[in-house]
Amino acid sequence: MSEDKKGYLASANRKKVTTYRLREMKQQGEKISMLTAYDYSMASVIDQAGIDVILVGDSASNVMAGNVTTLPITVEQMIYHGKSVMNGVKSAMVVIDMPFGSYQGNPYEAVANAVKMMKETQADCLKLEGGKEVIESIKAILNAGIPVMGHLGLMPQSINKYGTYSVRAKESEEAEKLMSDALLLQEIGCCSLVLEKIPAQLAAEVTAALVIPTIGIGAGPYLDGQVLVMQDMLGLNKGFSPRFLRRYANLFDEITTAVRQYVSDVKSSDFPSQEESY
Ligand code: KIV
Repeated sequence: MSEDKKGYLASANRKKVTTYRLREMKQQGEKISMLTAYDYSMASVIDQAGIDVILVGDSASNVMAGNVTTLPITVEQMIYHGKSVMNGVKSAMVVIDMPFGSYQGNPYEAVANAVKMMKETQADCLKLEGGKEVIESIKAILNAGIPVMGHLGLMPQSINKYGTYSVRAKESEEAEKLMSDALLLQEIGCCSLVLEKIPAQLAAEVTAALVIPTIGIGAGPYLDGQVLVMQDMLGLNKGFSPRFLRRYANLFDEITTAVRQYVSDVKSSDFPSQEESY
């Protein structure tokens, strides 16, 4: 059997990744890999490639819908993306972002939205941005038996408050608040925590202080896992190249070459050939 075939079978036979497994991975020092996906086809590919966690991020608002921020995406749209991803996944744990406005106010509305998202997508977990300010909503969702992944540091749903996407918690006051929010999220029962765009040293301290796993983006190497937006790591978005982003492919150029060839083949009547016809 070829190397590729063995690798494919190993990932096809993987056990489902759960919140329990994430905690176990932290204890065993096994790093957690997480990528975003928003549709059936890509979710199916990255699940078979062995990704541990798939995040149906509200970054769908940016990379799927072309909006400038994550704010416009709705609960219904997140459910559509969540269902599509779930249809393609066998083993990875699937986490869905609760969108802006669906949990920041009344905790009863937050639970109603969370229950709707879980029922209609059958995902494994929800992710919410924020600490103390949204703690009542997170508690209510956890009390309904829904696992929650926290998200601190740069929180894109608050971009209008910050006015910039630059690194957060560089000053001690914000760093101390971040640490106390992280401990609070763990205490109330969050299963894991995303830390976005904060100094590596602070991320290391938070990771050491917690028993729940931390997953970083632009937060350095000393975390229990890493996450990237799939379109960014595959090189589909040429204009976005922050320091933290490593590109693993250059799909923008590859797709351009393929499409140019197709256009040329159609125009020259090279495609379809006799062999490609019935
Ligand atoms: O929406 C998203 O893609 C995210 C990641 C950047 C962590 O929240």
